[in-house]
Amino acid sequence: MKTHRYSPHSDKPFFFLFFFQDDFEFRSKPFAAGPVYLSRIDSFEKLTRGEDVKSVYMLNLCTKDVDCEFLPGDTLAILPRNDENEVDSLLFRLNVDSVSDNRYCLVDDCEKPFNIPKHVPREGTLRNVFMSHINIRSMLKKVFLKKLLFYTTDCEERRVLEDCASANSKQYELLISECPTLLHILDRFPSCSPPIELILHYSSPLLPRYFSIASSPLQKDTLSIIFSVVEFENSLKGVCTGWLEKLLNVQQSKVPFYFRKPTGFRMDSPEESRVLIAAGTGIAPFLGFLRHKSLLEKPKKLGGTYLYYGCRYKEGDFLCAEELRKYVSNGILAALYPAFSRESTSKCYVQNELSKGRDMLVDLILNDGALVYVCGNKSVAKDVKETLVECFAEHLRVDVADAAKIIGSLIKEKKYLVDTWL
Ligand SMILES: Cc1cc2nc3c(=O)[nH]c(=O)nc-3n(C[C@H](O)[C@H](O)[C@H](O)COP(=O)(O)OP(=O)(O)OC[C@H]3O[C@@H](n4cnc5c(N)ncnc54)[C@H](O)[C@@H]3O)c2cc1C
Ligand SMILES: NC(=O)c1ccc[n+]([C@@H]2O[C@H](COP(=O)([O-])OP(=O)(O)OC[C@H]3O[C@@H](n4cnc5c(N)ncnc54)[C@H](OP(=O)(O)O)[C@@H]3O)[C@@H](O)[C@H]2O)c1
Repeated sequence: MKTHRYSPHSDKPFFFLFFFQDDFEFRSKPFAAGPVYLSRIDSFEKLTRGEDVKSVYMLNLCTKDVDCEFLPGDTLAILPRNDENEVDSLLFRLNVDSVSDNRYCLVDDCEKPFNIPKHVPREGTLRNVFMSHINIRSMLKKVFLKKLLFYTTDCEERRVLEDCASANSKQYELLISECPTLLHILDRFPSCSPPIELILHYSSPLLPRYFSIASSPLQKDTLSIIFSVVEFENSLKGVCTGWLEKLLNVQQSKVPFYFRKPTGFRMDSPEESRVLIAAGTGIAPFLGFLRHKSLLEKPKKLGGTYLYYGCRYKEGDFLCAEELRKYVSNGILAALYPAFSRESTSKCYVQNELSKGRDMLVDLILNDGALVYVCGNKSVAKDVKETLVECFAEHLRVDVADAAKIIGSLIKEKKYLVDTWL
């Protein structure tokens, strides 16, 4: 079997402010509906303020040269880069910092023990591989820890590593929770000095992250997303959202993205009535629906849109509140039902609002044929479904099993659509 040899050579110096063509060609692009575009950040706005709320931003990309063939509700996929400081530290710790900007090319070599996976470009620089192509935060499997043993010289460190990597080890979970990334592991075992080929061999590709489009295709030259910065207890931020947040402060930054193949979760017929149910950043696709509706030529008959929206506070994270209120006053939204979960001692979720308006809601869905859309995290989707089943059962005076069947058929007929994550 042929393997590859990694052979750095030092002809051309590189600067990593720019993207290279191979950044996109070699990267994994699941569900891509078209090419990768590189768009400049036009503007951004922080949508949250105060304490006890996440940092959420509206990001507007300039799409002058983009073929914006999407419908409200569609998603785009962003190809993120790893954190530069984290990459620097890792390259240093792996002892390759002095050659990381030199160009390499992989050559076939049957004698080398490590196969270099396909997601590593055949030519390039190590820094670019670590910045754009491999997931440097990927889960450290036991088989990889076992391999690290070969390159660890200290006896005590070897003992701990061996223990963690053994089949029934309880220590493994503990180690991974304390050392969630390769860099943490290398810090924990200072005498471990693995070759770069081993790291590349066990690496996984850096995958794109999906974001709902929060704008209308009718908006000229701009495309918006809303993202919430993921923050971990150990002060690390999410790869993509942490990177995007940093980009906001860099002049002329560009973001590579592609349109993801559409699912059914989109607004293709604005004349139909809709019940939209969102929590947190789940509002993003619905903002796209409303912006689109407000830009459509009048006087087309448009269906009523009813929005149930859950957030923590009236002031802190009621995303785009002004814009949503404007849609109520100009009739784009037939009604807005906000639910604030942390304004009082008792939690108020979208489910509470749905239950309050049960009769109107069931009537809208069954008699007006309103489509139901739910967007948020998985637990919101599950709990909302349970509440709707209860609403149907109580309104129609049927038992819960029969009400669940009605919701089941709405799902089957694609009249109840869900977009969730986690
Ligand atoms: C169809 C679809 C549409 C999406 N639309 C949006 C959107 O419009 N806006 C938006 O902000 N996000 C959206 N997401 C989620 C988004 O794609 C990313 O997963 C998210 O932004 C985190 O990416 P990251 O690289 O910053 O974090 P990563 O570095 O990938 O870390 C994420 C990891 O952190 C953990 N985690 C803990 N809390 C959270 C949390 N609240 N969110 C995510 N991960 C968490 C999980 O284990 C997860 O694997 C969508 C996802 C899908 C599948
Ligand atoms: N197209 C998509 O699939 C898509 C698009 C955008 C976002 N998302 C995903 O949607 C999620 C939104 O997260 P976020 O961080 O923006 O929201 P968040 O701020 O964590 O939560 C928003 C609100 O939902 C409440 N909530 C929590 N659990 C709930 C439940 N079971 N039922 C009803 N309400 C509940 C929260 O209340 P408390 O915190 O007070 O409990 C809060 O008031 C993320 O996972 C994001 O990735 C998916």
